[in-house]
Amino acid sequence: MRIPEETIDRIRQTADIIDVVSDYVSLKKRGQNWIACCPFHNEKTPSFNVSPVRQIYKCFGCGKAGDPVRFVMDIENIGYPEALRHLAKKYGIEVAEEQLTPDELIRQNERESLFIVLNFAKDFYHSHLLKSDEGQSIGLSYFRERGFLDNTVQSFELGYSSDQWDALLQEATRRGYRAELLEKAGLVLSKEGGKTYDRFRGRVIFPIHNVAGRVIAFGARILKTDKNQPKYINSPETEVYHKSQVLYGIFQAKNAIRQEDICYLTEGYTDVLSLHQAGIKNVVASSGTSLTIEQIRLISRFTQNVTILYDGDAAGIKAALRGLDMVLEEGLNVSVATFPDGDDPDSYVRKVGAETFKKYLSQHSNDFITFKTDILLKDAGDNPFKRAEIISEVIQSISKIPDPIKRQVFFQKTARQLQVDEQTLISESNRMVLSQQKQQLKQQQDKATSPGRASGPASMPEELTEILNDFSVEAPPVERRAVDPLNPKTRSSLSYQEEECVRLLVNYGAHELEPDISVCHYMLSELGNMEFVTPVFNEMLREIREGFVANEIRTADYFLKHQNQEYQHQVIGLVTFRHQLSENWLKHEIYVPTEVDKLADAAFSNILRLKKLVAEQRMRDIKQQIVQASDPAESDRLMVEYMHYKKVDIEIGRLLGTVIS
Ligand code: UTP
Ligand code: MN
Repeated sequence: MRIPEETIDRIRQTADIIDVVSDYVSLKKRGQNWIACCPFHNEKTPSFNVSPVRQIYKCFGCGKAGDPVRFVMDIENIGYPEALRHLAKKYGIEVAEEQLTPDELIRQNERESLFIVLNFAKDFYHSHLLKSDEGQSIGLSYFRERGFLDNTVQSFELGYSSDQWDALLQEATRRGYRAELLEKAGLVLSKEGGKTYDRFRGRVIFPIHNVAGRVIAFGARILKTDKNQPKYINSPETEVYHKSQVLYGIFQAKNAIRQEDICYLTEGYTDVLSLHQAGIKNVVASSGTSLTIEQIRLISRFTQNVTILYDGDAAGIKAALRGLDMVLEEGLNVSVATFPDGDDPDSYVRKVGAETFKKYLSQHSNDFITFKTDILLKDAGDNPFKRAEIISEVIQSISKIPDPIKRQVFFQKTARQLQVDEQTLISESNRMVLSQQKQQLKQQQDKATSPGRASGPASMPEELTEILNDFSVEAPPVERRAVDPLNPKTRSSLSYQEEECVRLLVNYGAHELEPDISVCHYMLSELGNMEFVTPVFNEMLREIREGFVANEIRTADYFLKHQNQEYQHQVIGLVTFRHQLSENWLKHEIYVPTEVDKLADAAFSNILRLKKLVAEQRMRDIKQQIVQASDPAESDRLMVEYMHYKKVDIEIGRLLGTVIS
């Protein structure tokens, strides 16, 4: 089966990379390009770039790159023809191709077949609801009674499964779908004796869409009151449906979530439908599971703000509290709102309407930490032991927040709430963090993990200038130097930054950044007595220093005439040819055509990067030492030192953020 070339061309011409990527990720404009956190790997600072001019995307973190079709293939995990069909559907381009025969289906890969059969089932249930007598009189009238309007039925593609053993199975078989595929899709079940029958019977159907709008599973609600049957049954896990990674309603909600910059998280299908219908469209449900890390990451593609809407059931709330630390850990801002006894978001919004509902939310939602403290306090009453437990539990939650400034705010707030001294909370938290880190280190001794970067407004606090100034660095020990320090295979990022530093010095050393302050002057004073690990760059730096002391700015010419051949060789590489961009540099977009205009930024960020890399190296060293330390006093001292470098590292990361933009 083939899509005509002509149609392929049309699809390729119509599909716009920004448009296509935006279906999955929240893009921000950055100069000519758009950037986002990469959907293909987990990251906190964006390295995923999209170029509307060239109609391509590239992630500088994980290397994924391509055009709109490639993007769809990668993100949906589907093949080329399926990606084309997907885009065709998105842009309303008709793809003339014959109906699938069973043989052709077999040849398609399994995921694609599953998507197709699930889509068929969705259409089947949906048209049954709207067109058959049974569907209208039972299913549709149920939805109407619940107050769901036609519009809602349409956008969520609701359906009805008739009260027969094999209505779907029969129609699917007639169309050439094999029973085996239907079973893999979770649509039918087989009994021991070999009899096959529909999973969903006599129920209204809620299709579950993935973020791109493809149906991957179903939820089905019973209509009779039958004590022996569950109210809802859901598709089992399949090749395309992993419950823990899915949020009901995300496809219909994602644009609103992005626009409102907040996501409401509810418990079920009906909450999503009712709120959506009331005009509150930034709402999803974790239906049936407690919140997972994958679901949180899905939300964080669109916003950093989540409000969880619980119904008033206290036991349920307490059970859910612990799981939420995970959300904090991901750096999201979490609030919680509960509803009056007996009401869930669905019933409450129908009762009071959208306006009052929103007002209620704004008055009754609390940040998660405050909420948790409150609940636990009520629970503990005056029991001092219980209160002590609460304190440690709340500190644990706060300690999970990656942003130090936000942590600070919460320490203040909860100190008041718990009526304890803020400093007590902080030292207790430090103690906890330290011992946790130590434990982690022991576990993954040689896996060097990069420290989390803080987000938030970038600024240059005075304290930081101090840290940077008294930040003297020694050269790392000799044995770590690679045999050939310039071998691209083994070369360190530090060595690349050293080269960049020397390149700036030999090209622009004499250039004045401000009256009387040359690039050479500026960079040398920032570097202090830092030594480079790459021998040739270290020697060149030393020569430049010597020159500067003697009032001479040594640039390219000096090294070209130098008797040392190695210098010549290096300098020709740095000057004559267009400088080869390392990925790292491309990523940070330092090398723009008008380099001289951006010289101050280039010099500043090079210095920051050098210091950051050295700090990171120091942190790795300290980690090693901590693991080996036997004396607790010694390891505490190392921890303090580690925290110092970590702080430097985070602050530099933040500063770099401001330089790049
Ligand atoms: P409800 O019990 O309120 O379901 O659960 P409902 O359909 O709104 O029923 P009534 O009319 O109030 O009695 C709310 C959500 O919890 C999930 C569903 O997603 C539902 O929308 N749920 C509930 C299940 O997944 N399974 C269940 O057995 C019950
Ligand atoms: Mn309900």
